[in-house]
Amino acid sequence: MLSFSPLFAFSSSLPAKLINGGIAGIVGVTCVFPIDLVKTRLQNQRPGQQVYKSMIDCLIKTVRSEGYFGMYRGAAVNLTLVTPEKAIKLAANDFFRHHLSKDGRGLTVVKEMLAGCAAGMCQVVITTPMEMLKIQLQDAGRLAAQQRKPGIIPPNRLATTNTVLSQRAISATQIARELLHTQGIQGLYKGLGATLLRDVPFSIIYFPLFANLNKLGKPSSEDAAPFYWSFISGCVAGSTAAVAVNPCDVVKTRLQSLNKGANEETYSGIIDCFSKIFRREGPSAFLKGAGCRALVIAPLFGIVQVMYFIGVGEFIMSQSPLKLISD
Ligand SMILES: *[C@@H]1O[C@H](CO)[C@@H](O)[C@H](O)[C@H]1NC(C)=O
Repeated sequence: MLSFSPLFAFSSSLPAKLINGGIAGIVGVTCVFPIDLVKTRLQNQRPGQQVYKSMIDCLIKTVRSEGYFGMYRGAAVNLTLVTPEKAIKLAANDFFRHHLSKDGRGLTVVKEMLAGCAAGMCQVVITTPMEMLKIQLQDAGRLAAQQRKPGIIPPNRLATTNTVLSQRAISATQIARELLHTQGIQGLYKGLGATLLRDVPFSIIYFPLFANLNKLGKPSSEDAAPFYWSFISGCVAGSTAAVAVNPCDVVKTRLQSLNKGANEETYSGIIDCFSKIFRREGPSAFLKGAGCRALVIAPLFGIVQVMYFIGVGEFIMSQSPLKLISD
């Protein structure tokens, strides 16, 4: 691990960053997973067969029919993979930033974007299968509710409901195994293109926006921005980027949802999906779940920034003091 440090000479060591990122991820998932689940369900609803009217309605119905833990279906996938995902992203971002800066000091905005973009491309190796598994688990309750709802599905359509995964597949490992068995590694990487289309622009917007917002809060070029400033910068940059790339997120969710409800169309690829949504549901469909996504991403990124700022990882790795009070 130590041999990495010359590469990541910018601030703290990679292990310390990883601890920060890992803790931030776990706290974040616990706080916002229910809204993430609502997002997936709202994005998958087609006009005319809505089970949920709004974010709050979806939360209430989920708790009623699936219990409090129902809101956390699929959370184990995120909790397990959040640290490796962060590791790849952070390492890649540091690596590219280091190689793009000549004198080890500041980066131009364009280079910041390049580094963020390259980091986003490395991250999808983990993100895509992670989202793939998560979405099947999150959406299962919506499909069940749709089947129960009278009037939506004529009884004879039930049998023809497009079910790619068997109903027995209930855990993430079972789904992964079934996908690998039936479709090979490609099965887990369905939606890779859409994930890239979402995450690369996300990074291009997020990283420089955060860096520049955060810079505004620095008392001088030597000092770090205060605690609350980094938090707000993370929230603002994260939710702005999240809403901007929401159309790609809708497409990604649709492509990755293997089990469809009755009358729910299938898509052959990104372009087909974009055009079918546009024609059948109108342009506003691309904003489905955007509010949820902003509510998910803002705290996730805010918490990350705070963890970095406090330096729990640095504290654990080298007993350096926690920066709880800004001076
Ligand atoms: C779960 O992980 C995916 C993939 O990184 C991410 O897009 C999503 O926001 C995460 N959800 C939560 C609640 O952390």
